[in-house]
Amino acid sequence: MELRIGSPATGGNFYQRPVLIAKLLRALKRDNVAFLGPRRTGKTSCLEQIKAQPGDFLPILLNLEKHDTVEAWLSAMLGELRKTLA
Ligand SMILES: Nc1ncnc2c1ncn2[C@@H]1O[C@H](COP(=O)(O)OP(=O)(O)O)[C@@H](O)[C@H]1O
Ligand SMILES: [Mg+2]
Repeated sequence: MELRIGSPATGGNFYQRPVLIAKLLRALKRDNVAFLGPRRTGKTSCLEQIKAQPGDFLPILLNLEKHDTVEAWLSAMLGELRKTLA
């Protein structure tokens, strides 16, 4: 395991958070989930981990910060869905 400051922790560098991830997935089976918390507490790393081991879901990850319009967001979402379904 290597400590990298900056990008989300993935693969072997991800310190496992099984309880939090199980809780998120349970909540997602019931409804939409807003996974909120202070910056740099590991939210994106957990989402990357769920994407790597999706179980019953078909996860896509979108960074909406870079989109200024709904059209751009939907287009990015469709692109990711296409890739995931391919
Ligand atoms: N599960 C984890 N295992 C190892 N390092 C982690 C983990 N979660 C967070 N980190 C460390 O914290 C930093 C911020 O994590 P990140 O997932 O980007 O947080 P957030 O999305 O909440 O801002 C990462 O660059 C990494 O150094
Ligand atoms: Mg993040």
